[in-house]
Amino acid sequence: MLQEVVLIKLGGSVVTHKQRPMTMNKIAIDQIFKSLLSVKVPIIFVHGGGSFGHYWSVKYNMHSKPDSYPSDGIAVVHESMISLNHKLVKSMIRFKLNPYSVSPFSIISNNKPLVKKIIELASMTRDKIIPVTFGDIVYRTHHKYSILSGDELMTMLSYVLRPKRVIFAVNVDGIYQNPRTKELISTVEEGSLIKFSNVNFDVTGGMKRKVREALKISLAGMDVHFVNGFKPDRLLKILDNKKTKGTVIKGKRSSKRNAR
Ligand code: IPE
Repeated sequence: MLQEVVLIKLGGSVVTHKQRPMTMNKIAIDQIFKSLLSVKVPIIFVHGGGSFGHYWSVKYNMHSKPDSYPSDGIAVVHESMISLNHKLVKSMIRFKLNPYSVSPFSIISNNKPLVKKIIELASMTRDKIIPVTFGDIVYRTHHKYSILSGDELMTMLSYVLRPKRVIFAVNVDGIYQNPRTKELISTVEEGSLIKFSNVNFDVTGGMKRKVREALKISLAGMDVHFVNGFKPDRLLKILDNKKTKGTVIKGKRSSKRNAR
């Protein structure tokens, strides 16, 4: 039987200092991992690139569009992500969280999930292991590569594993109706998913991509939470099924037949 898991994306702007190249946010990272010590549910982590992968992908002008990017850029972006992943994993080891680093190369091929390998990740959580994968530059086909975001990985993993909770930890309180007034959308009901997807909100850049992936996941029948990664107590509340500040996009019920 498929092991029930919780899927958490640690946004790049939570785990790194976005304005400072190749600098992780040690305080934020340690705070999250420390607070997870009390959590009993099996977790799989995905993390973003922040001032590691994004910094170099911008320098080399690499995008999500498959292209023949320069080999030195591919090497540098990948190394920067491994370096960030290593730092996260080391912090988790200090807190005895038993991380297991997983390159996206081993669980996807040409941006399609390798189902068997992803199910193996869920099985590993039975042994108190926490798999940690990440956005990266990935091989597509015929000399072409593309940036695979951690957000897209969240969708692929959700389709295969149908996690009990899907959580995006971001650097703001959730999705704002209006970022200027910081008017928070607390719930997007199932009935308004389509209206919501027709951009009934004002988000830009990185957040837009997260919302797009979150909508795909909710249309497949799973609730998706956005929570402030700098407030781990809120993350714990979501894991505990308690109400907290943030945004939840409700999963489409007709697709919930297979959901838990
Ligand atoms: C980025 O992953 C991966 C690379 C740029 C190599 P994400 O796009 O998920 O990163 P964040 O969370 O937005 O920083």
